[in-house]
Amino acid sequence: MTSRPSFPSPLQPAVAPVPTDPPRRLTRRRLLTLGGAGVLAAAGGTALAQSVFAASPVGPGAPAVRATEAARARTGTVVTRSLRAAPATVDLGGTTVSTWAYGGALPGEEIRMTAGDELRVRLSNDLPAPTSVHWHGLALRNDMDGVAGLTSAHVAPGASFDYRFVVPDPGTYWFHPHVGVQLDTGLMAPLVVEDPAEPLGYDEEAVLVLDDWTDGLGPSPDAILARQRAKGMSMAGMKGMSMAGGVDAAHPLGTDTGDVDYPAHLVNGRLPTAPVTISSTPGRRVRLRLINGGADTPYRFAVGGHRLTVTHADGFPVQPVEVDTLILGMGERYDVLVTAGDGAFPVVAVPEGRDEPGGMAVLRTASGDAPAAGARPAELDGRLLRYADLAPADAVRLPAREPDRELELRLAMVNGGRTWTINGAVYGEHEPLPVEQGERVRLTMVNTSTMFHPMHVHGHTFALAGGAGAGTRKDTVNVLPERSLAVDLQADNPGQWMIHCHNAYHAEQGMMTVLSYQA
Ligand code: C2O
Ligand code: CU
Repeated sequence: MTSRPSFPSPLQPAVAPVPTDPPRRLTRRRLLTLGGAGVLAAAGGTALAQSVFAASPVGPGAPAVRATEAARARTGTVVTRSLRAAPATVDLGGTTVSTWAYGGALPGEEIRMTAGDELRVRLSNDLPAPTSVHWHGLALRNDMDGVAGLTSAHVAPGASFDYRFVVPDPGTYWFHPHVGVQLDTGLMAPLVVEDPAEPLGYDEEAVLVLDDWTDGLGPSPDAILARQRAKGMSMAGMKGMSMAGGVDAAHPLGTDTGDVDYPAHLVNGRLPTAPVTISSTPGRRVRLRLINGGADTPYRFAVGGHRLTVTHADGFPVQPVEVDTLILGMGERYDVLVTAGDGAFPVVAVPEGRDEPGGMAVLRTASGDAPAAGARPAELDGRLLRYADLAPADAVRLPAREPDRELELRLAMVNGGRTWTINGAVYGEHEPLPVEQGERVRLTMVNTSTMFHPMHVHGHTFALAGGAGAGTRKDTVNVLPERSLAVDLQADNPGQWMIHCHNAYHAEQGMMTVLSYQA
């Protein structure tokens, strides 16, 4: 099992992008750096003359990155962990597989801390391949973002790396490698950031990691990637194509929701035949923190016999809304409250739009038989959460402001699904998307393909713009087939940040680009 990045990933873009703004005034500092206009004239050419007005990328080690980190509110508490990435044999519940995991556990042991704490994690790489850790959803310092080749080097086999950063916002997050398709092995774990002034009342809490599983049961993630590069989309994909995306009430993400046939779906690393149990008492309020850690599978989630009060989307609070079921795209998280009934209830995550048996846990408040694997509670067909149902809690609302800059990302399938592009280019050949610190930026994602893409922005929690769910803070959002979706972000975290599809295979087949702070 090997894994390596498939596209060249320059540490810094070599050429500053052509400015999209009118040329800004040349500062004295820049004139000095450039050695004066005479040099320019001598070097000649309008193109060069124009390029001096273009800014240059704010790298992960830039003073602006350090200054932003120094300004973050901190509690003074330091949370220290060591994290060993290594081959492991894990028990899925009667079935044992060889995979890669953190600390031999699936999912890896949760890290729990409080907003404002500093996290110090030493990653030891005992894998036979380079790796990294990306802290999904956190507005952290750019040089700790763990994007091998962009924000730091790969961590070589046998080497270690010290991650160290202040965690600013409470919420449900997770971490995983940002190298190849390692996300589709067991390398993932939850990161829960508690709110020092938690407004939510609940009696107990469970973190549920939903995951599509092939490693050791079916083809390896690298074999799947190789097949997709050679052959493109699956038959399911071809069916979806002829129906032009096919978004309707029965297919809220369209008719083609994935390319991989997974042998199993897990909740907290367990097969539905050997589920984990959430124990409670009738009438108690249980907070469930849901994380879709899958590589290629959106999940429809429900708890038999219970309604869900949705309280957080991607870690940030929303105005509470009650539904029967919700869909999590890959990388999305929701926190929900349920008031426990009396009995043993199926907690299910079924692959959206596919016929595979789903994952399951059990909510138990009384003795009695556990629900059968494959249970399909009626709630799955009840009221489904839509983005339009969401609104941000007042405390996390982005102040209204017109965008200073608008950027478009055109998402496309090329060559029958052998390649996925943003703005016509695969990662490595991409044109970075320039922003400047302090700007309000609107990103409009235009999906020209017949599959949905869960688009994720690193280092920022944007606000849904315009229509459905306006203002809701998120970091990962499902862009439906042949639709477009806009988000606004405040450019307050300088550096170089990935924007990509969280389908691990689409990302590795090119669907990644960079939000590039310039100064
Ligand atoms: Cu969860 Cu760039 O990733
Ligand atoms: Cu995608």
